[in-house]
This record gives sequence, C-alpha cells and structure tokens, in this order.
Amino acid sequence: MSTYTLPIAGLLPFPTLFHAISMALSSFVIYWISWIVYSLCSHPLHSIPGPLWAKLSRTRHLYQIYRGDFEKTQIVLHRKHGRLVRIAPDEITCSDPEMTSEIYAARDPWSKSKFNEMFNVPLSKYPANFPNTDELLHTSHRKIVNAPYNMSSVLTGQRYVDTCMQTFLDRMDRYAQDCEVVDLGEWLQFFTFDVVGELFFSSPFGFMDEGRDCGDWIASIDLLMGIFFIGGAAPWYMKPFVVPSAMVASKKTRRAMKGFTAEKEGLAVNKDMLEKFFAIKEEKGEQVDFLVPEIEGECFSAIFARSDSTAIALRAILYYTMKDSSVYSKLIAEIDQATASGIFSDPVQFAEAIQLPYLDSCAKEAMRLFPSVAFAMPRVVPRGGALVSGSFISGGYVVGMNAAVVHLDKDVFGEDADIFRPERWLEEEDAGRMMRYMLHFGQGKRSCTGKNTCCFLGFPTHAGNPDGTKNYSSSQNANPEV
Ligand code: HEM
Repeated sequence: MSTYTLPIAGLLPFPTLFHAISMALSSFVIYWISWIVYSLCSHPLHSIPGPLWAKLSRTRHLYQIYRGDFEKTQIVLHRKHGRLVRIAPDEITCSDPEMTSEIYAARDPWSKSKFNEMFNVPLSKYPANFPNTDELLHTSHRKIVNAPYNMSSVLTGQRYVDTCMQTFLDRMDRYAQDCEVVDLGEWLQFFTFDVVGELFFSSPFGFMDEGRDCGDWIASIDLLMGIFFIGGAAPWYMKPFVVPSAMVASKKTRRAMKGFTAEKEGLAVNKDMLEKFFAIKEEKGEQVDFLVPEIEGECFSAIFARSDSTAIALRAILYYTMKDSSVYSKLIAEIDQATASGIFSDPVQFAEAIQLPYLDSCAKEAMRLFPSVAFAMPRVVPRGGALVSGSFISGGYVVGMNAAVVHLDKDVFGEDADIFRPERWLEEEDAGRMMRYMLHFGQGKRSCTGKNTCCFLGFPTHAGNPDGTKNYSSSQNANPEV
C-alpha cells in the first residue's frame, strides 16, 4: 500500500499522523465533555453557585488575580449568588461572618491551602510562618519568634519610628513651604519601608532621604508579589512556568537579606528586631533549630509583604479621612484638643496617640472599607467535611473568606456598611460585635504576627507632630488603590 508523507511532519506516514491528531482531538473533546458534565452535575461542589467559567477551570480565578480587581468581582458575585460562591472547580469563597471563628479558629484552625506555599522563599529548611501549611510545625515555629513581636517589645523601637517620623515631617514641611504638590501615597510607602528598615536593621532604606525607590526595592517587591499570587492560584500544569520567575525575582531580596544578617551575627545586644532574633539564636538556637537561615526568613517576610500591607493601610486611613471634610475637621479638632491639654510629646508617641478615640475609629473604619489583604485567605476543609454556612462541603476542598467582602456585611456593620463612617466604632454596644468579624489582620491562630508593629508605626503618623497638621492642605486624590 502506498503512503504519503508530509515534508514538515517528516517522520510519520500521513494516515498515522492523521489518526494520531484525530485521536488526540477526540480525546480532548471527550475529556472536556465528561469534565463539563461531571463538574456541573455530580462534582461535590456542583450545587454551589458561581460563574460557569469558574466551575470548569481555575483560569477565571487566575485572570481575576492578574487583573488586580479580585475583591471587586467577589463583592459582586456574593451579592448575586449569596453566602457561598464557587470561584474555581475545587474552591469556594464564603461571605458568612459567622464562619470566621470556625475557619480561622484560635485553636485547630483549618489548615492553609497550597496557595500559601508559593509565598515561601527557601531561605531556611523550614517554611516561614506565613506560607507554612503544616499546623504542628507552625505552632512550634511561631512560638519561637512571638516575643519580639509582642507589644512591649515592639514599643522599645519607638525611637526608630521617631527618627523616621521626623524625616517624614521635615519632607512634608518642605513641600508645604514650596507649595509643591506631593504624592502622599508614594511618600507613605517610602516612610513604611524606612521604618521597617530602622525597626529590623537599625538602618533605613533611604527612600525618604532620596525621595525615590532607591535600589528598586518597591518595584521588585511589587513584581514578586504579583508572581506569588498568580503562581499560588495557578492550576498545577501552569506552576512550572511561574515558579522559576519567582526564584529569579526574589534573588535580589534574598541576597540583601544575607548582607544584613552577616553584619549582625554575634552582635546580640537586643536593640532592633534583627538583634532580638539573634538573641533568641544565642539563647536557644541550637535547641529549637532557629539559626541564621531562619532569621533571614523572618526578616524577608517582614520586608517583602509587610511593609506593603502597612503602607496600604496608612494610605487608606489618610485617603478616607481627608476625603470627607466633616471627618477631617473632627479629627483635627480631636488632635488640637489633645495638644492643648498637653498630652502629646514631640514627636507624638504611640501610647499618646492611642488615647484619641476618633483617630482610632478612623483607622478601624478605613481598614474595614479598604483592607490591605483583599484576597480570600484560602483554607482546606478538614477531613470528614464540614457545614459551611448551611451547605455540606467535603474534606479537602478549599474555602476562603475575603475581608473586603465580609467587612461590607450589613447585618454586622449596619445598613450603611458601604460608606466611611468612623462614628459607628464609637457606638459602644456595636463596636465589640463588629470587631469580632474584622478580618483585616486575619483571625485566630494564623492572624498577623506583625499587627502590633503596624499599629505602632501607623498611629503616631496620623497624629503627626503636635502642630504639624496645620501646615498642609489636602487634595482628594490620594486614592489608596493607585
Ligand atoms: C497594616 C499592616 C498589615 C496587615 C493589614 C497585615 C495583614 C495580615 C493578614 C490578613 C494576615 C493573615 C493571612 C492569612 O491568614 O492567610 C497576616 C499574617 C501575617 N503577617 Fe501581617 N499584616 C500587616 C503587617 C505585618 C507586619 C508589619 C509584619 C511583620 C513585621 C507581618 C507579619 C505577618 C506574618 C508573619 C503573618 C503570618 C502569621 C502566621 O501564619 O502565623 N504583618 N497579616
């Protein structure tokens, strides 16, 4: 029998090649038809509502993350579909505030999903606290580093914050005197990075001195963050394309970390955070296996994700308070009154700033409306399954709750939950109840280790110096989203 050969295909005789292609195509079509029927009709999550594309493929979830408006889509989806929404074939999000205490429990919380593993930069043989999906390992590791993060320890860094605060206020003064327009969002990010540099390494990054992202730290971290989120959410077959770019992008940060730690080794005088970590290493490092690589991991996570979350929170607080003139006037009146009563030092200290109830309410309200982490924090349903907002979900599937969605719940935060109204936090009986459902720092056992650090450096910023606020006028463009 004669055969034809395709010059480009070269190796296979035509009928064989034709058969191979049609076999591949028909297998593909059969696979997809079976998958569509299974996913929509008999998959354990088939009864959970959601967009059709999300029920069939993770690529929709990935696309939303890539666009960067994940939380906006999620708010719309929950308004349309209710408490539970299927956002990927094996993943749902839940907007029921009552589920926060079970999913993110203080004891035996649901474990973190594989999404989080992407955030691990292999500096140490153990995963850092944030990406650790092994609850037992996490419990023992978090205990080791808890002490430097507790409030009394963090407060010993007040003078580091004071130095940066003074630089920040000097720069703002100069802009005010020259009547120059300033991008406050950018400056708040410079401020946060410099404070984290001071607190952790007694050495600011120099952003405020130079007035720019010197060394491209912010740009590298932005890039890395995008890669981590996309890599974490990507289906398994796409991960090999993302993981190598994360390794390359994180190289610079890892190198810098090694530089910092090399300088500090043997210098455990317990001043900045890095020295506090070295003090732990000296005291019991061998015993609990907390050595230089583990210290590098700890510092990496502080710089990498945390300076950014703190900057976002500061931007949100200033944006919302400056945008609403009645809120702004009330806040200034409160600061003026505190100044007149002589409770403020120069610069204002954390312990003084937290005495201002309206300032406190503005901070909570901004973090409610614009949480820095506006992403559903994914957790794995325990073996045996669980009732999630009235629906049974089998073990092994992923459920997440997004602060940006839960914080708009009208049953908890009131009919006007969509608007910025700090006064709601001063209405005594509601405040405690609302706080129970706030997810801005996560909740329970895996909640934010750095929340004291972040509150500490955020509060005096808003109080400024005793007479600083009167020098500046605001435009309404300091949008935290930009
Ligand atoms: C406004 C500033 C900050 C915000 C809004 C924030 C938010 C969060 C959230 C929502 C989580 C929980 C994530 C989850 O459950 O999946 C978290 C965890 C974490 N945060 Fe923060 N964070 C901030 C600042 C910081 C700072 C300054 C540090 C370190 C110095 C830090 C260190 C951590 C760590 C280590 C975890 C993981 C805790 C664990 O799993 O045990 N954060 N943060």
